Amino acid sequence: MTETRPIRAKDRDAIVQSLRAGVVPRRGQQHIQVGRQKELEVMLGDVERLADGGSSVRFIVGAFGSGKTFFLNLVRSVALERRLVAVHADLTPDRRLFSTGGHARALYAELMRNMSHRSKPEGGALPGVVERFASSAVHDARERGVEPSAVIHERLQSLSELVGGYDFAQVVECYWRGHDTGDEALQSNAIRWLRAEFATRTDARKALGVRTIVDDATVYDHLKLMARFVRLAGYGGLLVCLDELVNLYKMASGRARNSNYEQILRVLNDCLQGTAEGAGFLFGGTPEFLTDTRRGLFSYEALQSRLGENAFADGGRVDLSGPVIRLSNLTPEDMYVLLMNLRHVYAEGDTEKYLVPDEALKAFMEHCDRRIGDAYFRTPRNTVKEFLHLLAVLEQNPGTEWSNLLQNMDVADEHNPDLEPLPEDAEEAEDAREPDDDDLASFRL
Ligand SMILES: Nc1ncnc2c1ncn2[C@@H]1O[C@H](COP(=O)(O)OP(=O)(O)O)[C@@H](O)[C@H]1O
Ligand SMILES: [Mg+2]
Repeated sequence: MTETRPIRAKDRDAIVQSLRAGVVPRRGQQHIQVGRQKELEVMLGDVERLADGGSSVRFIVGAFGSGKTFFLNLVRSVALERRLVAVHADLTPDRRLFSTGGHARALYAELMRNMSHRSKPEGGALPGVVERFASSAVHDARERGVEPSAVIHERLQSLSELVGGYDFAQVVECYWRGHDTGDEALQSNAIRWLRAEFATRTDARKALGVRTIVDDATVYDHLKLMARFVRLAGYGGLLVCLDELVNLYKMASGRARNSNYEQILRVLNDCLQGTAEGAGFLFGGTPEFLTDTRRGLFSYEALQSRLGENAFADGGRVDLSGPVIRLSNLTPEDMYVLLMNLRHVYAEGDTEKYLVPDEALKAFMEHCDRRIGDAYFRTPRNTVKEFLHLLAVLEQNPGTEWSNLLQNMDVADEHNPDLEPLPEDAEEAEDAREPDDDDLASFRL
């Protein structure tokens, strides 16, 4: 399965550098991808639907090392090619979908920092998107012989029907005013507001004259607004990639978990009913995050009933019509193909420049198998890393025998962070003792 497509030096370097550092590449994934054909096809359909103003939601569920992050990045690359805007972030203890301690606003801010589109795939695309909205309105205004501010106002009208849309539109108008009058401070304040960098309403009011900010309780509403806004700016829609959802499962407080799951339910309901125009959501999580009925998504009844899987689709049969896409671990055969792909990418697609013969791939796999057993293909990060290190040494030391290197090569088993004990007992105690996030929310009301 050696591919014949040329490999751009940029892609090759991005792939090799990321994988050697133990992280999943953000570009060029298609050059090393193994399997996942059906899953990708389904996602291509979703991306098309999004680009047409539809919506989609998928849960990418797989064990540690099965390739969730890889798959999310792959779909993200495809979406960028199809002129969608993408935002991505990992959930962490400090970044959640809902909270009252600033953790949801922090997630939103991270998403906005990572905003990307085709010509800015590395993030930081938000100012350019806003600028593009403004300049296309100016262009339109010139053609029609009307005031740009009138066109801007008219285009932003459709935002006002959404929750929070009035202020969102006001902020974009501020950006435009700053643009028009050379007031850079006003422009940068508008961008800061859109990035959720205002912490208080007072500050936002002083800077921009609006009453609200992007805060913990309105993250999802603002994602919907942003999805509509990127369409007004000329993009197909917004793909929101959220990885490491296991962090919600790990939260000690049952109530805080539930308020996060409630946001996921809102996403699911809106997307299934098609009311989140141009918004797509991809959630990456482990099986226990989904199915654990005590703390996972299935502990929230409305989610369990919507996400419950097709009982006929097991034992290798798949059903990709529902929102859950299960990724199985890679197999030894996949691993072999992956090593072939890596060798190919390393050689920039030139078979003449292969650094090792096929038999070295087999020997490498056997060596890893002896050292760490089936973890070498089930959680392949280290295997991949070591293989690329091996190629790097061979490249820089011509005349070195791969078999000699292999004998001395060590490969470590990977530590699965999800196996650490959960704060089980803290849960009930915390619920009883401290006023929870949500209580504070209701105090404020
Ligand atoms: N379909 C695939 N094709 C090629 N490499 C893959 C694929 N899926 C995963 N990998 C590689 O396997 C390793 C683990 O994948 P990762 O996405 O980090 O797993 P997870 O997020 O599920 O823990 C990474 O090095 C990744 O590049
Ligand atoms: Mg991952």
